Amino acid sequence: MSKKLDETVVKRKLGKTEIDITPVGQGVMQFAGGHTFLRFLYYTMDDKISNEIVKTAIDNGINWFDTAEAYGGGISETKLAKGLKAAKIKDEDVIIATKWSPFLRRHTSVKKTISDRIKYLEPYTIDLHQIHNQMSVSSIRKQVDAMADLYDEGKIQSIGVSNFSTKNTILTNDILKERGLSLASNQVNYSLIHRNIESNGLLDAAKELGITIIAWSPLQMGVLTGFYHFNEDAFENKKMGKKIMIKRYLKKSRELMEEMDLISKKHKVTIAQVALNWLINYHGDTVVVIPGATKPKQVEQNGQVMNFVLSKTELNDLEELSREFL
Ligand SMILES: NC(=O)c1ccc[n+]([C@@H]2O[C@H](COP(=O)([O-])OP(=O)(O)OC[C@H]3O[C@@H](n4cnc5c(N)ncnc54)[C@H](OP(=O)(O)O)[C@@H]3O)[C@@H](O)[C@H]2O)c1
Repeated sequence: MSKKLDETVVKRKLGKTEIDITPVGQGVMQFAGGHTFLRFLYYTMDDKISNEIVKTAIDNGINWFDTAEAYGGGISETKLAKGLKAAKIKDEDVIIATKWSPFLRRHTSVKKTISDRIKYLEPYTIDLHQIHNQMSVSSIRKQVDAMADLYDEGKIQSIGVSNFSTKNTILTNDILKERGLSLASNQVNYSLIHRNIESNGLLDAAKELGITIIAWSPLQMGVLTGFYHFNEDAFENKKMGKKIMIKRYLKKSRELMEEMDLISKKHKVTIAQVALNWLINYHGDTVVVIPGATKPKQVEQNGQVMNFVLSKTELNDLEELSREFL
């Protein structure tokens, strides 16, 4: 099924598919705050806020959303569909990415759980279905074949992986090739202060094979906003899990943050916008981002990242200053 899209923002192909996505997508893991493991990171989110986040994303040119089975076992998916319906968005006007949760499961659960994904997201169809991590007890081949079967049955429009090593990314693409398909994406943690995909061969392989890198935690959960560097009481009301994740990076990123602060002032944007702009522009079309949000204002600013480009010098300066995170 081909989807009709808003033409105001320059879109990119998702891998080698015909699916057009904006360089900024919207991550909606926060919609399942207060549930399962996410209770250690985020508070429960009201439908009023999640609806507003969805509408703000669409209003600011963002044409796709990333959710997952693991985000509350259907809670994030349901709230996403609710938000899209409230904003009167048609299926053909939005791209939906979700994920199968492989943790200690066999490949057979790919097919068993697809009806739940479809039901929770209804009436929105799945454009990208991803294997969430490498924690299945079945072989990669069996998992990938199960995903390819879903594609052949018309239940999903493309196949991605998440948190896959370089070796397994290439293997997945090879297996899909045998089925006449290709791997659309690998969703991994990638940010200015978490750049391991540039040193472990994954980014190079993605560029060579035409696989989109979807950067999760592109703001490193908020470290790359400057909020925690420049506010004494920044950790007030933040959940324990989030505090631990953020404090790991604070000291080492101080110098980079000061440079980002200067650049942001020059462009009259925020530090978070500089961080996202670097990711979507430094590597051509290969990298797209899915920042999460708890406030509609954040979504508006993240969407507006698509309306400016850092200069070549600024992009290179940021690359140099963040080399210790390679
Ligand atoms: N595949 C995977 O294994 C995996 C793992 C993690 C995440 N993800 C996906 O990636 C998405 C993003 O990751 P993430 O939410 O962990 O990290 P992130 O995008 O780096 O950080 C999101 C947090 O940053 C703050 N923020 C966002 N936009 C902002 C702005 N413009 N200005 C100031 N602060 C801003 C908010 O913090 P406050 O809430 O404190 O305001 C928000 O909750 C998730 O929603 C999910 O879809 C995937």
